[in-house]
Amino acid sequence: MTGSCGLIGSEVSLHLGRQGYQVFGIDNNERAVFFGPEGDTRRSLQRLRSELPGYSHYSVDIRDRTGILKLVAEVKPDAIVHTAAQPSHDKAASIPFDDFDVNAVGTLNMLEAARRACPESPFVQMSTNKVYGDLPNTIRLKELETRWDYEDPQYEHGIPETFSIDNSKHSIFGASKVAADVMTQEYGRYFNMPTCCLRGGCLTGPNHSGVELHGFLSYLVRCNVEQREYRVYGYKGKQVRDNIHSEDVARFIVAFCEKPRCGEVYNIGGGKENSCSILEAFASVEELTGIPQKYTYVDQNRIGDHICYYSDLRKMKEHFPGWGITRTLQDVYREIVESWHERLGPRSRAAVDVAG
Ligand SMILES: NC(=O)c1ccc[n+]([C@@H]2O[C@H](COP(=O)([O-])OP(=O)(O)OC[C@H]3O[C@@H](n4cnc5c(N)ncnc54)[C@H](O)[C@@H]3O)[C@@H](O)[C@H]2O)c1
Repeated sequence: MTGSCGLIGSEVSLHLGRQGYQVFGIDNNERAVFFGPEGDTRRSLQRLRSELPGYSHYSVDIRDRTGILKLVAEVKPDAIVHTAAQPSHDKAASIPFDDFDVNAVGTLNMLEAARRACPESPFVQMSTNKVYGDLPNTIRLKELETRWDYEDPQYEHGIPETFSIDNSKHSIFGASKVAADVMTQEYGRYFNMPTCCLRGGCLTGPNHSGVELHGFLSYLVRCNVEQREYRVYGYKGKQVRDNIHSEDVARFIVAFCEKPRCGEVYNIGGGKENSCSILEAFASVEELTGIPQKYTYVDQNRIGDHICYYSDLRKMKEHFPGWGITRTLQDVYREIVESWHERLGPRSRAAVDVAG
């Protein structure tokens, strides 16, 4: 497991560990370098160590090719789940070398290490819906009272995996993730390895250390409970995202590893049913916490940001009929609110008292 202390990596590690698998985690807490103290993942490492007695941790940088080749050769894992990444769209523009070295070259290091040591082991790459660039923004949309939605009936169920990843603006992050995604597909198709790319929508959950530049729901809830101002960038706050609980992501990863296929691609997200706009998320969180959401509106969208995006989950369900979403959006909100109350302690309770 790479990125084992991150949102997805830690959830998948816990999920696998609880099922009796031995988890070898690779994470050098680079998230704290990318996002500062708020991105620090040490709390997550402590949790892995305390909840999974068999957990082994390696603070290795996935850019360290020699170190990675050696480690994978020693461990020879039965499956590799690669979630280590520079995960932010906006951050990447200021650190393009680091972004590409981690996301693209780091993934190549992992794939080649797997090919040399354990080519039969399923390899799951956490990709992103940013590989579609801003092309989803060219779909005909309708403006509803609190959100945008697709008007074109072709996308009634959301964006399918056949959607083009070409000829669009991706952001620097999106481009480095395209490189990783295509390389993972190539190791599947060219070397016949059991690889898949999971093109994530918004993957979230109670353990996310959301920051402004990454982890929208977690950060939004944190702003609410701390009564901090949330900045909305463009699209009238009606931009739509589909949200999937990290445990449902973990369940899909297990399903794939148990019955792998070669060079597959899946759009993984909450789907239409778990989609919301920022305005809708404000309202739902306010209802749970009783705290009015403070926000400012910046009349400039983030570069390449999707206006409306939700994943078409039909291919995943067709390939893995036993898999489906188990956490509703309401469950997700509630768990994130509870987690921030617990983590922030008196600070969030004081905010609730002030709000009355
Ligand atoms: N969270 C989302 O909403 C979302 C959506 C789509 C795709 N994804 C993808 O899922 C993956 C995981 O995302 P996340 O939200 O868990 O991010 P995260 O930042 O919470 O986790 C990434 C982890 O990787 C570690 N890491 C970073 N660079 C490293 C390096 N060079 N060597 C070793 N470890 C390193 C970090 O310390 C961090 O713990 C990423 O590939 C991301 O692009 C996430």
